[in-house]
Amino acid sequence: MNYNIAVIPGDGIGPEIIREAKKVLDRVGNVYGHAFSYTEVLMGGVSIDAYGVPLTDEALETAKKSDSVLLGAVGGDVGNSRWYDVAPNLRPEAGLLAIRKGLNLFANIRPAYLYEELAQACPLKKEIIGDGFDMVIMRELTGGLYFGERSTKEVDGVMTAVDTLTYNENEIRRIAIKAFDIAMKRRKKVISVDKANVLDSSRLWRKVVEEVAKDYPEVTLKHMLVDNCAMQLVMNPGQFDVVLTENMFGDILSDEASMITGSIGMLSSASMNEGKFGMYEPSHGSAPDIAGQNIANPIATILSAAMMLRFSFDLDREADAVEAAVQKVLSEGFRTGDIMSEGCRKVSTSEMGDLIAERI
Ligand code: NAD
Ligand code: IPM
Ligand code: MN
Repeated sequence: MNYNIAVIPGDGIGPEIIREAKKVLDRVGNVYGHAFSYTEVLMGGVSIDAYGVPLTDEALETAKKSDSVLLGAVGGDVGNSRWYDVAPNLRPEAGLLAIRKGLNLFANIRPAYLYEELAQACPLKKEIIGDGFDMVIMRELTGGLYFGERSTKEVDGVMTAVDTLTYNENEIRRIAIKAFDIAMKRRKKVISVDKANVLDSSRLWRKVVEEVAKDYPEVTLKHMLVDNCAMQLVMNPGQFDVVLTENMFGDILSDEASMITGSIGMLSSASMNEGKFGMYEPSHGSAPDIAGQNIANPIATILSAAMMLRFSFDLDREADAVEAAVQKVLSEGFRTGDIMSEGCRKVSTSEMGDLIAERI
């Protein structure tokens, strides 16, 4: 079968990690008899440089027409980049928000799993790690603070900036349903994270999540305040199965969860619509501090490509093979710098991609 993938390398380390994910997909294609064809699309800083906007209508159309999208990362060194001091809709990150909204990718699935092999790279104490952890963060991706009205203006002689946080019950319901559906295939525990002691949007969140939970009597639902959740993640990560939360909280908590897996370079993600269409992207950014050095960890992107095989193409066996190859390379002691520990062998971005591809 032929799969048409829109590929968005983006900025910084984006092109380096995308190269490795394509290497792995091509290997899957050869071994299992599929053809993956790639249409490259510009987004982020590279698109601003080429067209003056972070995402052109044509780019969005190409993504819409594809079978799925594979994204590296966008953005520069925030604050210091030539793309910083411009109107909000002209920043690299605006391209990312526009493609998420334009493709209706409201469900961001971020699995945080501790490979036994990476226990040494995890900053938590052994007693806390226990038998490890395996959670999925279900982050709402097209609502909340990211998409509310924004302004900066002088009010009574004082510069004032406003960002608004809005959720309606439909937006909450559809992400909650996805979270409960995923929980049914896992350990059947949902922890919904909010700030219902302060925010109206969180109170509505809680109410709607409770309504959805009624349709899933086998799933245990617990609510947790977001500040407590940030603490619980490093105190007892093993308690989490599915973490359901809104856009901004999910952004922050997923970076925290990534570090306890060893590195943000390990955290994959899928951004899905109602059905099987998705954009697959590592949870990390363009890492301008290490771009162009061939040292970034490509595993988050490679595992995101595995999620593409599973969720968009129903190629479970192929996805399993990619995940097993990652595990094998780690168990053989190969590490990029970010997950390096004593006794292991340090490899570059491209060597890591080669090693994983060879094991499929
Ligand atoms: P970042 O995730 O890019 O980097 C944070 C730190 O983690 C850096 O020290 C970086 O070197 C390291 N890191 C990230 N990915 C790594 C990898 N694969 N291997 C090894 N180390 C890795 O976050 P940031 O520095 O806050 O943001 C940089 C830029 O990326 C900003 O412009 C931001 O807006 C953008 N960003 C984009 C996305 C995306 O496109 N999905 C996500 C997050 C941030
Ligand atoms: C992520 C990123 C993005 C987000 C930024 C770049 C807009 O941090 O995918 O986690 O906050 O969603
Ligand atoms: Mn983020």
